[in-house]
Amino acid sequence: MEKVVGLFGYPVGHSLSSIFQNAGFRKLGLDFTYILFSVKPKKLKKAVEGIKVLNIVGMNITIPHKEKVMPHLDKISPEAKKIGAVNTIFNKSGKLIGYNTDVNGFLTSLREDLKFNPKGKSVFLLGAGGVAYAITYALITKGVKKITIVNKPRWMAETLIRHFRKLSKRCEFNLVDFSRRNHRRLIEDSDILINATSVGMNPGDASLIKEGLLYPGLLVFDVVYNQETALLKTARKKGLKAIGGLNMLIHQGAVSFEIWSGEKAPIKTMRKAAENALKMGG
Ligand SMILES: NC(=O)c1ccc[n+]([C@@H]2O[C@H](COP(=O)([O-])OP(=O)(O)OC[C@H]3O[C@@H](n4cnc5c(N)ncnc54)[C@H](OP(=O)(O)O)[C@@H]3O)[C@@H](O)[C@H]2O)c1
Repeated sequence: MEKVVGLFGYPVGHSLSSIFQNAGFRKLGLDFTYILFSVKPKKLKKAVEGIKVLNIVGMNITIPHKEKVMPHLDKISPEAKKIGAVNTIFNKSGKLIGYNTDVNGFLTSLREDLKFNPKGKSVFLLGAGGVAYAITYALITKGVKKITIVNKPRWMAETLIRHFRKLSKRCEFNLVDFSRRNHRRLIEDSDILINATSVGMNPGDASLIKEGLLYPGLLVFDVVYNQETALLKTARKKGLKAIGGLNMLIHQGAVSFEIWSGEKAPIKTMRKAAENALKMGG
């Protein structure tokens, strides 16, 4: 019988995961199917119970459920617990275990695409939403020296900093007002600029950072994966090393794939499938 995995989110219409996960399963000849489930926040508990009832192998979790799903699980990996968010569930013999694979996806892309080791480095981070938590955790575990955080509602950045100060005494956190994000010195003092906001997802989204501040040698990482953002375009035009979020997405998905199937994920096939889907308009 076909084994089912999938995604709980609200909405889920834009997700590339079903395309590249199913391509991966087909490539290895595995009898898995990845299905998108649109789950309203009120129905989350029931949907999670459904994983057990229907003997579903596993689930990815996305906005707005990554935090809210945690009380409904039987066990949570130490990493996901520290981040405070789960993006993958594995149904292990009737027990639901929560993981966070965004951390791994981010670190793999950072290493492979930018050859960047965060140890002792300074990071300029835009955003304090879900993905910013996984990124901050990843940077801390790799010994980052300083993170400058900018977010429109300041309280979100304050909450993130409060959360991670408890985990790391060594990392210095610098909270900067959204209106001051284009201060030259802040970016000049950073080794890498990371956009962890959703700005850039929509056609015509302007970059949050002015072109003139992107100095030679600055690395740029943009979590947005559905198109080349204005930030990436500008950075590349100026000859900077800059990467979008697609490789992170594929690698976080690959870790989920391996948790569910026990097989090594065929990364190249999965990436190709995602790239083709994006070329065809998602
Ligand atoms: N590459 C990957 O593997 C991967 C994985 C997860 C997520 N993502 C992408 O990462 C992005 C963020 O996801 P998330 O889960 O962190 O979402 P989220 O929890 O909703 O957070 C969104 C972040 O973007 C900020 N933001 C939104 N609109 C803004 C604007 N106009 N100006 C300034 N800041 C703005 C939000 O702050 P405000 O409160 O100001 O809105 C918040 O900091 C999405 O594009 C998502 O697709 C990529």
